[in-house]
Amino acid sequence: MENINIISPMGRPELFDFEGISMTHYFTDNWENIQKFQARPDDILITTYPKSGTTWVSYILDLLYFGNTAPERQTSLPIFFRVPFLEGTFPGLPSGVEQTDKLPTTPRLIKTHLPVQLLPKSFWEQNCRVVYVARNAKDNAVSYFHFDRMNMGDPEPGDWNTFLKRFMDGKMVFGPWYDHVCGYWEKKQTYSNIHYMFFEDMVEDTGHEVERLCSFLGLSTPIEERERITKGTHFDAMKQNNMTNYSTLPIMDFKVSPFMRKGKVGDWKNHFTVAQNEQFNEHYKQKMKNSTLRFRTEI
Ligand code: A3P
Repeated sequence: MENINIISPMGRPELFDFEGISMTHYFTDNWENIQKFQARPDDILITTYPKSGTTWVSYILDLLYFGNTAPERQTSLPIFFRVPFLEGTFPGLPSGVEQTDKLPTTPRLIKTHLPVQLLPKSFWEQNCRVVYVARNAKDNAVSYFHFDRMNMGDPEPGDWNTFLKRFMDGKMVFGPWYDHVCGYWEKKQTYSNIHYMFFEDMVEDTGHEVERLCSFLGLSTPIEERERITKGTHFDAMKQNNMTNYSTLPIMDFKVSPFMRKGKVGDWKNHFTVAQNEQFNEHYKQKMKNSTLRFRTEI
């Protein structure tokens, strides 16, 4: 697989207000087609706030559906082509909508970071299965910070303190973490086809989470195969695997930070000062007070 060069000569993109959230043009340029997107009833949508374990769950799903039937996929097609990024429109690549429309396999696995209110209506109308992964806010912020340091497709993060303030203000690409995780959680109360997962549970017991995924999807994958998938999607394996570690996408500068960075729960403790932590906890309590969503590693 050739490396793809999609770094814009214009440099880092600007953040602007779009439909009530912050966005960059990479995710809004194709807006009309995104909103018109025709989902199919057997589509499976992987939806997350950025840096919550999207790639991990995408790879698990890809192996569950195509691990045995399409082995060449595993060695020649990076995960971001197997599971297109619906709203992505990067120079030099077909848009996410075009890539999805051209997927030869069924079911189509589709990735999105769109908040619940901006998701194309056809996913709901077709009663598609939606897999949502949430990650605790502090680790999510840390991961997003390091990602933005190395990912030329996002605005400059500035220093950690500046970035954390922006995260708390919700001025992030794809909007506030709080609204994203709570939005899908609320949706789940009325739309039963959402499987809501937590990154922390996946780290603690990946095998159990794979089993729960299979039961949501109605798959009777044998235990030996589930174990193979659990092993093959371990952080170390995915970090070594050029088809899952994003090393073929030079919009990212791995000299600054790798895509598969640490994959840990609690790395926030290495970043937050005591003052930042106190401020964050207070702010978090306010932001989450009207939601029933609770994280196991609640702060
Ligand atoms: P860190 O930056 O904390 O290491 P996304 O795919 O949504 O962009 O999320 C990326 C985050 O998930 C990164 O977090 C990455 O290391 C972590 N991740 C990806 N695959 C993983 C795996 N198999 N096990 C644990 N963490 C994983």
